[in-house]
Amino acid sequence: MKTEQKTLQPAVKLAGEIQVPGDKSISHRAIMFSSLAEGTSRVSGLLRGEDCMSTLKAFQQLGVEVEDRAADELIIHGRGLQGLQESADVIDCGNSGTTMRLMSGILAAQPFFSVLTGDQYLRRRPMKRIIEPLSTMGAKFLCREGGRAPLAIQGGGLVPTEYHSPISSAQVKSALLLAGMQIEGTTTVYEPHLSRDHSERMLRGFGVALESFSGGARVTGPVKLTAQDVVVPGDISSAAFYLVAGLIVPNSELLIRNVGINPTRSGVIDILKAMGGSIELVDERELSGEPVADLLVKSSSLRGIDIGGEDIPRAIDEFPVISVAAAFAEGVTTIRDARELRVKETDRIAAMCETLGSLGAKIEPLEDGMRIEGQETLNGGEVNSFGDHRIAMSMAIASLRTSTAVTINDSACTETSFPGFWELLESIKK
Ligand code: S3P
Repeated sequence: MKTEQKTLQPAVKLAGEIQVPGDKSISHRAIMFSSLAEGTSRVSGLLRGEDCMSTLKAFQQLGVEVEDRAADELIIHGRGLQGLQESADVIDCGNSGTTMRLMSGILAAQPFFSVLTGDQYLRRRPMKRIIEPLSTMGAKFLCREGGRAPLAIQGGGLVPTEYHSPISSAQVKSALLLAGMQIEGTTTVYEPHLSRDHSERMLRGFGVALESFSGGARVTGPVKLTAQDVVVPGDISSAAFYLVAGLIVPNSELLIRNVGINPTRSGVIDILKAMGGSIELVDERELSGEPVADLLVKSSSLRGIDIGGEDIPRAIDEFPVISVAAAFAEGVTTIRDARELRVKETDRIAAMCETLGSLGAKIEPLEDGMRIEGQETLNGGEVNSFGDHRIAMSMAIASLRTSTAVTINDSACTETSFPGFWELLESIKK
């Protein structure tokens, strides 16, 4: 277990032009689809975070050859849907729910045996949400009590399904589409609100005739993926920390270059704007089928708002840092319909209430969200990350506006999604 610790001083002003690492969700999918494609793909702008490296290692264990060219670039020699080989050992998904859930869909349709495990946090997370629908397709899973990993999968022999998911989850949707695309027939997934659609967009880029409609997506298999060059944009979930930083520290202005603004991910921009935040989208363009822009953020007086409904999946990973923005906003912010926060890398409702609360924030848990009453400043102190990268980074952003220093325990988990986070934060303090 990593026990590194960081102590941060409050900031007076932030300024600069920065770039955040590649999008985590898109990086996972670029590695997966390149591995399943016929031919050689080049992936650039890739996130070298620990989560995506778990996906890369998994495919290397399944026989995929990879050339590691440059810091953010890989050349992947795809093996086609029929070319993967059984892994001789257990596949370790580390901290990554995306790796475990999407790989389960891929491997459920492969005619061999696989075992997936992960770190202590991932082994606590719910996997029934993919085991149950994949089992109705005929997949054979064994797992621990309550649908927890390690998971053993005897793949093959699947039939298509029409699945109405009770939750809006891109991991569930993608797992089923990735299983369905390998077998004869049409697999359809419906979800309550649209979750991130990177799988659908990128699969189309790899030549798969996948249909998206309001309420879900559909694929008819078996398909063929053709190798592509993929350029990964900057991660809006990583940019979100710097958006909130720029808003809450007085006299600040930051330009965050090359950020993905896919409408299924850009909820954080809409929410922060509704709170009164000054965020401008500059030079909107498209990169490998994904909309991208530079984001210009200026310090703003924020006000509390009510958040819920379809905005929740569009900002699901950003609520830890949105709760930091709310802690400095005038009035009350209420986050509802966000029960999913309880089963992320940690219970993020409990974690934010404990950490922000210990610095003096007026924050209380709701069964499906949080209620936060904003104030001018917070106290310094010592907080835990709970091994969750986004809790660690959210507390780092909160520390910019505390009265004294904040020490964050177990801080090395930021490597999961944001290598270089701490150095970048120091570089913009003026
Ligand atoms: C992800 C989907 C989301 C998100 C996670 C990444 C993905 O999870 O929270 O960080 O890449 O598909 P859910 O599908 O569980 O909502």
